[in-house]
Amino acid sequence: MSENIQHVTVVGAGAMGSQIAMVCALAGYETDVVDIAQDAVDRASEQLHARMDRDVSKGRRTPEDVDAAFERLTFSTDRDACAAHADLVIEAAVEDLTIKRQVFAELDRVCPPHTILATNSSNIVSSRVADATNRPEKVCNVHFFNPALVMECVEVVPHAGTSRETVATAVAFARSLGKQPVELKKEVPGFVANRLLGALRAEALKLYEDGVADFEDIDTAARTALRHPMGPFELMDMVGIDVVYLIRLAEYEQTGDPASLPAESIKEKYEAGEHGRKSGKGWYDYR
Ligand SMILES: NC(=O)c1ccc[n+]([C@@H]2O[C@H](COP(=O)([O-])OP(=O)(O)OC[C@H]3O[C@@H](n4cnc5c(N)ncnc54)[C@H](O)[C@@H]3O)[C@@H](O)[C@H]2O)c1
Repeated sequence: MSENIQHVTVVGAGAMGSQIAMVCALAGYETDVVDIAQDAVDRASEQLHARMDRDVSKGRRTPEDVDAAFERLTFSTDRDACAAHADLVIEAAVEDLTIKRQVFAELDRVCPPHTILATNSSNIVSSRVADATNRPEKVCNVHFFNPALVMECVEVVPHAGTSRETVATAVAFARSLGKQPVELKKEVPGFVANRLLGALRAEALKLYEDGVADFEDIDTAARTALRHPMGPFELMDMVGIDVVYLIRLAEYEQTGDPASLPAESIKEKYEAGEHGRKSGKGWYDYR
């Protein structure tokens, strides 16, 4: 465990927050996961118990470790009571700047002065929430990947005013979770991993749109020459073509650069409702 941190509060009990909280509790931290919605908290508890039961039945974890982790994990809708004794808060609430700024301002009021306030946001860099607090030096992105119980990478991203001490504590904390921290030296939209993925995806779409190769063959090259577990088009179908489209639009809003706009083929699929596996058809047909 990290020496400066004993108590973690995770704000938002959705897909990311619930699993991040479980990771923290499994690593030995006293952890609260809080949400504004009681049904989100109930769903998180139900899903985590089911997930841990499955891990135990498959021999991936011992029942003792899981029981001890659940003893350390509290599900709550009383954010302020939890945050009042947190050494670290990881905000994983809905991706909305206005809501995040409000959450950071309120956390700043209730948390002790030493508490680090981190955001798990994939797209909102921490400088955009840090100035809603009186402790910008203790604010940074701590970015987990989905599913957080499985994926090892955690990106730690400081803004220009984040202190070295905050970065060092966040990196040590990520390592104490059994994760692989990746420290960025400065803010950049998309951080490292999603930028690498975005570059690969953009090139794959260009090759396809230029008529160089069919998308199936581009996927085959990624799998068999680069040993990627799946090709960029298969991955877009899994993530959701609507998600890919909206991420590009959000990036365009931040950069104003037409190069950020979604590729033409993505726009067409988005508008045709071909959103990937979830809609039965995307690049591939799942019906
Ligand atoms: N889903 C991913 O693949 C992924 C990966 C990495 C990072 N992220 C980031 O994690 C964050 C959460 O994403 P998610 O996919 O878990 O979303 P989600 O929609 O599954 O969960 C968001 C939760 O936040 C709750 N919430 C809304 N307003 C709140 C408030 N004021 N206080 C407390 N809780 C509030 C909602 O009730 C909901 O339960 C986002 O910032 C996103 O960018 C997502």
